[in-house]
Amino acid sequence: RADDGYRLWLKYDELPEASLRKAWQAQARGITLASASTPTLQTAARELQLGLQGLLGRPVPVGTASGSKGLIRLRVAPDPSLGKEGYRITSQASGLEITGPTDAAVLYGCFALLRQVQTGQQPNQFNLSSQPRIQYRLLNHWDNPNGTVERGYAGSSIWKWHELPERIDPRYQDYARANASIGINGVVLNNVNASARYLTPEYLQKVAALAGVMRPYGIRVYLSVLWAAPKVIGGLPTSDPLDPKVKQWWAARTDEIYRTIPDFGGFLVKANSEGEPGPQDYGRNHADGANMLAAALGNHDGIVMWRAFVYKANSKGDRFKEAYQEFQPLDGQFASKVLVQVKNGPIDFQAREPFHPLFGAMPRTPLVLEVQLTQEYLGFATHLVYLGPLVKECLMADTYAQGPGSTVAKVVDGTLEKHAISGIAGVANIGSDRNWTGHPVGQTNWYAFGRLAWDHTLSPEAVAEEWTKMTLTREPAALASILPVLNQSRDIYVRYTTPMGLHHIMGQTLHYGPEPWLSQSARPDWTSVYYHKADSVGLGFERTARGSNALSLYSPGVRQQWSNPATCPLDYLLWFHHVGWGQRLSTGRTLWDELCTRYYTGADSVLWMQRQWEQARPAVDAELHADVAARLRIQHREALWWRDACVLYFQTYARRPIPPTLMPPT
Ligand code: GCU
Repeated sequence: RADDGYRLWLKYDELPEASLRKAWQAQARGITLASASTPTLQTAARELQLGLQGLLGRPVPVGTASGSKGLIRLRVAPDPSLGKEGYRITSQASGLEITGPTDAAVLYGCFALLRQVQTGQQPNQFNLSSQPRIQYRLLNHWDNPNGTVERGYAGSSIWKWHELPERIDPRYQDYARANASIGINGVVLNNVNASARYLTPEYLQKVAALAGVMRPYGIRVYLSVLWAAPKVIGGLPTSDPLDPKVKQWWAARTDEIYRTIPDFGGFLVKANSEGEPGPQDYGRNHADGANMLAAALGNHDGIVMWRAFVYKANSKGDRFKEAYQEFQPLDGQFASKVLVQVKNGPIDFQAREPFHPLFGAMPRTPLVLEVQLTQEYLGFATHLVYLGPLVKECLMADTYAQGPGSTVAKVVDGTLEKHAISGIAGVANIGSDRNWTGHPVGQTNWYAFGRLAWDHTLSPEAVAEEWTKMTLTREPAALASILPVLNQSRDIYVRYTTPMGLHHIMGQTLHYGPEPWLSQSARPDWTSVYYHKADSVGLGFERTARGSNALSLYSPGVRQQWSNPATCPLDYLLWFHHVGWGQRLSTGRTLWDELCTRYYTGADSVLWMQRQWEQARPAVDAELHADVAARLRIQHREALWWRDACVLYFQTYARRPIPPTLMPPT
């Protein structure tokens, strides 16, 4: 049967191994609710039933009288060791039990059990427990009211605003199922470049309808807000956060939101960034704005996520430093319901960035880590790039803020600085395409985000394996050829596009393909030459004390590693140093030769990806296999485009030959 990718990793085809099926069948004769039923508990039972029936190939009734053997009991029971959302799966004499302190926790436990079955585990003696390390695990949709998606490459928005609230597309429920299965518990429905419209009574009804679909799945809805809303839809002459009428307006709007959506999650704000309005328009700062919204939330159970993605046109400065300069001095001034949302790196979702210097530098403010799942700078839905390693690399980066081991993960999960709230956000790669993400393998990035948000100690390799087994195949030889492709894909992409710390040299506006020669733009800091600084001497952005000194924003432990070009990891070299073309590197090659080597071997590696994928053909659905194979052909063509564009352009400065060993035999 052709697989159109719609079912994502929630594929419940019958287990091919009869013995495994039998073993599980004995453990899953039925499902029983051992606690008072709630919509979420019913959802949990239904999801478990749906999954098991498919996987085991026979009916698994819900509600069978207790007492009989082989029943799976779902029970809500207090357990202080599990937090609010943690679950426990145990084997009892009478059968398996899934417990948790809340009904949502039990739902997560049901999906965890399904994952065990789907990945081919034996129904051994279970004593398994897990709880999320980060409290707010959110997808951020950059979806607009007109159905377009900013930086979306998988069709249009899945939200059909014109049909809501009357018609509920069945897809909304499948979306909620997928999110709940990986522990995502919140969804910002609309673009950070926000329309004020979402705050009108008309749209709140639509938002409420979506919230109704999400609620049984433990998911709350949030909105991005336009700072100027009091002017645009409120009829006020100002949006000054200190103006009493403005405060009153937001408080009244917020009350109305909670009347309409009692479990509304809160607000996400992009202010004074890329032309969006904000408190600075009135001489106020980010804390003034965020705190005013926090006050409007009052006693409602909601939060404000205030984005730190800010930078202004400045040809002399260094964009790297701007968010830090604006936000770090405000540490300690934000209200308790405010989290500051920081992108993983200081520029903008490049294929590899050093961690953002704000992590570890705002100990009195909870920081949300924002990563991008939609591949704005990573080849859209054409290039196969598994982002688990990128997310993990950032989480594991050591800020040294409180000595060695002060990882970004510990800043974000709140343990390092003892915060009561914590959050992580992924900019969604989801659209109306039948397979949700355009590139079938783009689904891994949605999946990996959820799994790492739940538990950042998981390895991206283990997560890739789960996804592949649940989605593509469990056949060992096929896994052996597919998994290395996933795990190395991000590094390969970096090599043929922006090796050794090059960044922001992509095509203007669209952000697709190479344009390192870009020197004219509406703003100097949107050009490529601003970032790569190629000249006759060498290549790279000097960010030591000899240059912009952006390195001074990091702790001494970090500076020590990165400020000396001889010890700076090659992956970050050109982020921080202007290096001579003839400079010899730790690889034994000169900078120029190393650059060429990475571009050439990177592009060649796409051929290796193709061969590996080809080997997996017998084990993977034919339609899906052909789709990915075709995309890999485009990827190779475009890897050559990147390679040739960049090498030939930089050669005009380096004036050195491409090492002959890299050239294909004539
Ligand atoms: C990038 C992206 C924009 C987006 C912005 C943001 O600059 O290109 O489309 O609005 O990030 O994160 O706010």
